[in-house]
Amino acid sequence: MCGIIAYSGHQAALPILRAGLRRLEYRGYDSAGITLLARSRLQTWRAAGKLDQLESRLPEKNAAKCGMGHTRWATHGAATDENAHPHLSPDGGIAIIHNGIIENAMSLRAALTAEGAVFASDTDSEVLAHLVAQCPADSLLESVRQALTRVHGTFGLVVMDAARPGELVAARNGSPVIIGVGEREMFITSDANAVISHTREVVHLEDGELAALDARGFTLSTMDSAVTSRAPITLDHDAESLSRGGYAHYMLKEIMEQPEALARTLGGRLDRRFNTAHLGGLNLGPRELLDIRRIKILGCGSAYYAGIAGANLVESVARLPATAEPAAEFRYRNPLIEADTLYIVVSQSGETFDTLAALREIRRKGGRVIGVCNVVGSSIAREVEGGIYMHAGPEVSVASTKAFSSMLGCFMLLALQLGRVRDVSPQQGGEMIAALEALPSLVDTALGESDAIAVLAAKYSGIRNAFYIGRTDAFPVALEGAQKLKEISYIHAEAYPASELKHGPLALVDPETPTMVVLPDNNLLPKSLSSLQEIRARKGPVIAVTNADHPEIHALADDVITSPPCHPLLHPLVMGIGLQLFAYHMAVRMGRDVDQPRNLAKSVTVE
Ligand code: F6R
Repeated sequence: MCGIIAYSGHQAALPILRAGLRRLEYRGYDSAGITLLARSRLQTWRAAGKLDQLESRLPEKNAAKCGMGHTRWATHGAATDENAHPHLSPDGGIAIIHNGIIENAMSLRAALTAEGAVFASDTDSEVLAHLVAQCPADSLLESVRQALTRVHGTFGLVVMDAARPGELVAARNGSPVIIGVGEREMFITSDANAVISHTREVVHLEDGELAALDARGFTLSTMDSAVTSRAPITLDHDAESLSRGGYAHYMLKEIMEQPEALARTLGGRLDRRFNTAHLGGLNLGPRELLDIRRIKILGCGSAYYAGIAGANLVESVARLPATAEPAAEFRYRNPLIEADTLYIVVSQSGETFDTLAALREIRRKGGRVIGVCNVVGSSIAREVEGGIYMHAGPEVSVASTKAFSSMLGCFMLLALQLGRVRDVSPQQGGEMIAALEALPSLVDTALGESDAIAVLAAKYSGIRNAFYIGRTDAFPVALEGAQKLKEISYIHAEAYPASELKHGPLALVDPETPTMVVLPDNNLLPKSLSSLQEIRARKGPVIAVTNADHPEIHALADDVITSPPCHPLLHPLVMGIGLQLFAYHMAVRMGRDVDQPRNLAKSVTVE
């Protein structure tokens, strides 16, 4: 989604903005722009397409020490030069960059047009530049504040005024804005990764808050002009962790670093003494854990699929009814919120709009919500009552891999802790801990199949469609496997519970449509083998993903992706690794833009 980077300080702004925009690229965008302020003049460059287009228009050097840049992911208006940000007021004195959606932009445009205004773009954001210019005040902060009283919608924005060199004003409502605090220099961004090579000290704006800053510091205030203040927090990762580390793609790096990511997710949380997990951030004592009667997990996309796996884990281990639902659907069906249900929102970025909105709706109705998040200090992490940080490290590739696995790791810990205050015995708890301790090395073994899976991808890279099937806890593995394939290779892939195949989709099985069958070594294996027979009978190619050593699998499947044997608790996570690798190698083979697939954004901060 759209990205913001702004700078005021003692250094030349242009190289900092350029590098910041590169850091924002991974979020997905289709145009970009930069405005610099020098000698009381705003200079703006914009270009549709990738950053190289913009780079070709930018000057080599520029002395300005204040400026801002933006990557745009089109919502209102196509991805053109004119619609790229920054947008200017008619006299060119005010420049604005904006993430979010101004819902009353149409009526504001009509009103401004009636007054004689002429617009240079089709965007909702341009009205903001007009409005700020129409609100002269003693300070830029006051002009922005007044302009925002006329606006409905979501925004994370930065404004510059040609008449006030070195000053920047930012505001937030529903779209992240972060201030980076440096030495004689200040930054504004929508994603801390864009400033981390300059500072790890950051302040997150709250909704309804504005910031005014220059090179020396910043002040915070609300829309009602009340002054607020907050000490910076220190980011838990550094610029080094954002590098590709010698890998061809971030996605491959992130797949390969899953053993370390999972070791961090589990680290310090396994309690051998009482054979339980210890998740201090939940802020729930044993009595409160015991009083929980149901679990409802909410997320979007892969986070939702992780939620399905999580609900299965909690229900089977802790014997607590647990379900998962897409966050946006949940919020719009006016759900019953119950006092004895624990609601869990799960999100890598912690900024996904639909998940955040579901969290707010539940809290508004008095429900108790905890979070499973990766990005420390993100909106969701700050608004929940407690939660579990994933500690997976930054995820740059649009297609989520290590974060998905870490989500599952968090749910395993939660299932264990909830189970141990119910009827999981100390002995069973001890077995689960032993299984979890083995998890990083099992994932490492699964990753060892990468070369063999690359060979398989070469064989299947011509396909147009694929099915993914699995039973019970293998179903979310199938869902996530299909999601990865379609996201980065653009091959149409559908996931079904294996039992559902014969109720419809079997009609589409033919020699050109392979089915990936996820076959964990459990008591359902014989039943899954009959699905395999059904596919073979229709001449459908079968790729078995399995950790079972069963002769019939090799006899029936065209190809096999092997996964190491493990405790059933770990099946969904460990067996998913082969499917991540399959999607990755297919996309590479097909020459796709693996880390920045078309149409997608890393963090979906609009509805
Ligand atoms: C899939 C993917 C998306 C995200 C979804 C939620 O590879 O990346 O489906 O999982 O947009 O994102 P978060 O977890 O940041 O809320």
